[in-house]
Amino acid sequence: AIDIAKLRDLTGYITYDPGYKNTGATKSAITFLDGEEGILRHCGYSIEELADKASFLEVAYLLLHGELPTQAQLDAFEAAVQKYTVANQALLNIAQVIPTSTHPMSELSALVGLMEGQYSTDEKEDNILRLLAALPIFAAWNYKKSIGEGIVAPDQSLDYCSNFLKMMFAKPGEAYEVNSIVSKAMNKLLILHADHEQNCSTSTVRLIGSSHASLFSSISGGIMALFGPLHGGANQAVIEMLEEIKQAGGDTAKFIEMAKDKNSGFRLMGFGHRVYKNFDPRARIIKKAADDVLSALGVQDPILKIAQELEAAALSDEYFVARKLYPNVDFYSGIIYRALGIPTNMFTILFAIGRLPGWIAQHQEMMTNKEPIGRPRQIYVGATPRAFVDINKR
Ligand code: ACO
Repeated sequence: AIDIAKLRDLTGYITYDPGYKNTGATKSAITFLDGEEGILRHCGYSIEELADKASFLEVAYLLLHGELPTQAQLDAFEAAVQKYTVANQALLNIAQVIPTSTHPMSELSALVGLMEGQYSTDEKEDNILRLLAALPIFAAWNYKKSIGEGIVAPDQSLDYCSNFLKMMFAKPGEAYEVNSIVSKAMNKLLILHADHEQNCSTSTVRLIGSSHASLFSSISGGIMALFGPLHGGANQAVIEMLEEIKQAGGDTAKFIEMAKDKNSGFRLMGFGHRVYKNFDPRARIIKKAADDVLSALGVQDPILKIAQELEAAALSDEYFVARKLYPNVDFYSGIIYRALGIPTNMFTILFAIGRLPGWIAQHQEMMTNKEPIGRPRQIYVGATPRAFVDINKR
């Protein structure tokens, strides 16, 4: 058999694949994605069915265990997450002194990283549950701080999404009725983000974890990778772009032309995807959910009309058609978050809460399979050998 490592050392042969566009970094049994056909499945189950029929923690269980839970298993899993749905006082003290000028994603990443000092990294099962419980709590702390309001304690009697909404929107000490339309919409949105195979943040989680850094460190890094506007940060960028178009008088054609001009530095946010060269199946579901949620809540948001116009214009434009640039998951999600009352700078936090089970499952799979440390190579294109030049002779 050919020893590839030896051959590479002898010949200097290295696969050059910037952006890993065609590199399979791992074998995974979690998520199947066919970008040409627009298919997404988790452990064999279609995203359409999961978004329609499951709860977010049910999908989290599926990703972590590879099978849908029985009712008893789901009850036990939900109870285990609820058990850890408590505020950690040391982390709350830190969260409260993080300046409000800090982006919520930076704060979230910092708090998750700091969980490392609070819990033993040996408690692997418990730490998974702690993370699932903690992210909505950290997000709600951030929101309450940003509006100058006291925090609302987690309510262990509520389901995952309802508890999050209560911690976000209840006034401290006052009764709060969770709107079931809002909590169902939140459930669907979280499911749609739950995993997406080896995307930028998931690959980051696996790469950090491959050095045997803890789960907390790996997730903290994944949150930072998600923050970028070319990845999860796009949901915030989409709303900002739609607002900008509205402010500029709603002339979508002008922005389409700008996106086609490579020198403009402007891209149509929420369009295009590294893997989907067809409709992102999540975008279809979200588009319909946006229509449903807005009409159920009686919200009339003018940017929904701008989004629809932009989509129609792009889908009939040769530039976008030729490059197979379709709306992605981020295009309509922000419109729903906005209707639900989530502030724009927290949209990517919602993505992180949704993606968390996927990150954890991928980390777990990598550790179980004892994958080696991730360490890409490079093609060196720098200077050839040369003699050191004394500083006074340069
Ligand atoms: N607007 C205008 N042109 C675009 C866009 C866009 N949104 N996206 C891609 N293109 C063009 C590129 O300029 C390029 O054109 P060329 O072939 O003439 O040079 C071609 O389409 C291919 O684009 P790449 O950047 O090479 O594609 P890549 O796979 O590297 O990038 C990405 C994918 C980052 C998602 C890109 O489409 C983009 O920047 N989209 C906008 C940001 C966004 O919505 N990100 C969210 C992605 S989904 C997610 O992370 C959850």
